[in-house]
Amino acid sequence: MDLLIKNGKVVTAKESFIADIAVKDGKIVAIGSELSMDADKIVDATGKLVLPGALDVHTHLAMPFGGTVSADSYLSGTRAAACGGVTTIFDYPVQRKGQTILGLCGEKKEVLEKEACVDYAFHCCITDLNEGQILEEMEEAVNKGITSFKCFLVYKKEGMMTDDGTLARLMLRAKELGAMVNVHAENPDLIDLNNEKFLSEGKTSAWYHYMSRPEFVAAEADKRVVHWAKNLDAPVYIVHMSDKEGLEEVIKAKEAGYEVYVETCPQYLEFTCDVYKREDGRNFICSPPMKGQESMDALWTALKAGYIDTVATDHCPFQSYEKDWGKDDYTKVPNGCAGIENLYPYMLDAANSGKITFERAVEVCSTNPAKIFGCSNKGSLAIGKDADIVIYDPEKDFTISVNNMHSDYDHTIWEGKKVHGYPLQTYLRGKLVYDNGEYVGTPGDGKYVHRVPAK
Ligand code: URP
Ligand code: ZN
Ligand code: ZN
Repeated sequence: MDLLIKNGKVVTAKESFIADIAVKDGKIVAIGSELSMDADKIVDATGKLVLPGALDVHTHLAMPFGGTVSADSYLSGTRAAACGGVTTIFDYPVQRKGQTILGLCGEKKEVLEKEACVDYAFHCCITDLNEGQILEEMEEAVNKGITSFKCFLVYKKEGMMTDDGTLARLMLRAKELGAMVNVHAENPDLIDLNNEKFLSEGKTSAWYHYMSRPEFVAAEADKRVVHWAKNLDAPVYIVHMSDKEGLEEVIKAKEAGYEVYVETCPQYLEFTCDVYKREDGRNFICSPPMKGQESMDALWTALKAGYIDTVATDHCPFQSYEKDWGKDDYTKVPNGCAGIENLYPYMLDAANSGKITFERAVEVCSTNPAKIFGCSNKGSLAIGKDADIVIYDPEKDFTISVNNMHSDYDHTIWEGKKVHGYPLQTYLRGKLVYDNGEYVGTPGDGKYVHRVPAK
């Protein structure tokens, strides 16, 4: 054996039990009590939890956006992921007019082959159908393991918005191919209307970022997406859900049997729109913005009740000087915040404090994302799966600070957040890549995850 992890409490989405795990050639080959076999490396996990690595299915690494490029490269972003117990990331390359899916993702892959510290996959954002060529190409993309595509219903001025006709075409084509369309749902025209009004009135502080995109701006688009999913009978995945009204529409659709999946992010579970009243409010500017207490409460209720399918980060950090571009005009702040290294510790802390169970934390951060997005070797501690394993100390106290993260950004919205319990080690397909505060892997360890249609 290459690795034997002994006496830990193994957590799956369904149950927790004390067991040993044996790993050979990057795969889990045995799980049982008191396994007696020779191994090159034996790890005593007594008193620790042994968890499947998380899949952060929403990242924007090295993304040109907001007049700059997001602050984490593929190397620093995936290094931070490894140090937070994330063993697979899904990035969102943005296709522009004239670009092909495979051309774009191929370029990103070339960089990731050298830089990735964890495994990776792509959801490709489609902004232009290239006279139908993209709909054709989707089949080849699916055959090459890219089984999900994204539509932004916003970012009209940035040239990234998908109109309803394009969204519908993409949803129908994805359904045909057993693929999925992911949607960022906010209403762009309402946002433009609000921005014009606030700027003309001199209302330019970070608070007006929230006021320009309040609950009903997201809810309208969430409802539109659910409407399409129902009437086209096509699956859809709504990213970064933040508002109660939209969430309620998703829950109704789920209860009626429609294939509507929903993701939320730690920032919507932790912060309300009050952060935009702070002096450093611009650092919290992301889209959609954090919402009111009622929305936060609804997200937690839905998370506990099993209606939220996944929690992912929307990791898209920018440096302080870039956030400062919008000191006097919130519309000039590049949208996005950090989170890749905080996802699993945050959700596991919620489990440690009894808000959710550890099984549920594993389900939304690992098992469900793997299932929904067709990563058949990921998402669970089971024989035959990749040995993507996190050893977690439920008693370790940790205070998040930019100084103890492994990214390239210079500030974090999570500064000062205390969590009880923290990952001690991360194994990527059996290789130790994070050990007690240190990244110990080698960039390039990460491999492309060839996905298969989930259905
Ligand atoms: O503010 C955000 N979320 N920036 C990244 C792009 C997006 O909308 O997901
Ligand atoms: Zn988005
Ligand atoms: Zn995003």
